[in-house]
Amino acid sequence: MQDIRNIRLSDGREIPQVGLGLWKVRDEAEFKRSFDAALAAGYTHFDSAQVYGNEQFLGACWKASGLPRENFWLTTKIRTENIALGHTQQSFPHSLERLQTDYVDLLLLHFPVPLQRKKAWQALEKIKAAGGAKSIGVSNYTIKHLEEMKLYATEMPAVNQVELHVFLQQPELVDYCRKHGIVVEAYSPLAHGKDMKNAEVQAMADRHGKSYAQIMLRWCIENGLVLLPKSVTPDRVRENIELYDFELYLEELQALAKLNRNLRTCWDPTRIP
Ligand SMILES: NC(=O)c1ccc[n+]([C@@H]2O[C@H](COP(=O)([O-])OP(=O)(O)OC[C@H]3O[C@@H](n4cnc5c(N)ncnc54)[C@H](OP(=O)(O)O)[C@@H]3O)[C@@H](O)[C@H]2O)c1
Repeated sequence: MQDIRNIRLSDGREIPQVGLGLWKVRDEAEFKRSFDAALAAGYTHFDSAQVYGNEQFLGACWKASGLPRENFWLTTKIRTENIALGHTQQSFPHSLERLQTDYVDLLLLHFPVPLQRKKAWQALEKIKAAGGAKSIGVSNYTIKHLEEMKLYATEMPAVNQVELHVFLQQPELVDYCRKHGIVVEAYSPLAHGKDMKNAEVQAMADRHGKSYAQIMLRWCIENGLVLLPKSVTPDRVRENIELYDFELYLEELQALAKLNRNLRTCWDPTRIP
């Protein structure tokens, strides 16, 4: 079993640095297999969302584990449609019901929905004040969206979950978040599996006796990010947290920095006004 390090959030809580991504895990048996492999390997952090349609599987799985609720870090996100309709607060109790819990560890706004950001964030602040979420944050926010938050937020987000990997490094955004005490969560840290053939990454994997995926994920660790690799393959689930027994050399980090090519595999929020 692997020990996963924690990262301290601005609200004082400690988030496990690696969490299991759950996007596109829609089949209940597959979900359970992935969850069980993760739990056995040492994961405690699970990243769900209303739009993934699997909060109820996560609720059933953590309950079935027999472990206390405090052993888990559960994240969910308010789906875009609910934000757009002004239903952030009304939609949240349904998430809690599906997750079989009375609080989540982290609640995020899934996307910077135009004209609704202030209202949605104030709803999250209320949910937190009422104890429904221990920490609150945003996802897919650019520097512009975060700057705007200074005008209306009582509390700035503890995290910003964005697409981040060797091929999409977003250094300005990461730097901005670091300076403002916002922890960055790297989603799609394996670039959604879209580039697993880069020769330089493979050479590093061979040098360290690690896999290609582990080099991509270790890059996130070296950059102090929280990372959320997704896999429904038990061996890969295990492999994806075996990250703390090696380090990348300075020259390797410099070579990886040059692989940034703004490869977006999911949303592009930079065009959202
Ligand atoms: N906030 C947002 O808007 C947002 C958007 C996207 C993602 N996310 C979060 O981030 C998580 C991860 O992102 P993602 O699902 O896009 O992709 P990812 O983790 O970058 O990549 C997943 C893909 O890589 C494969 N894979 C996993 N481990 C591997 C390994 N060790 N070796 C080779 N291939 C491996 C998986 O295949 P198998 O599953 O078949 O093993 C899957 O095809 C999501 O699940 C979600 O929780 C959030």
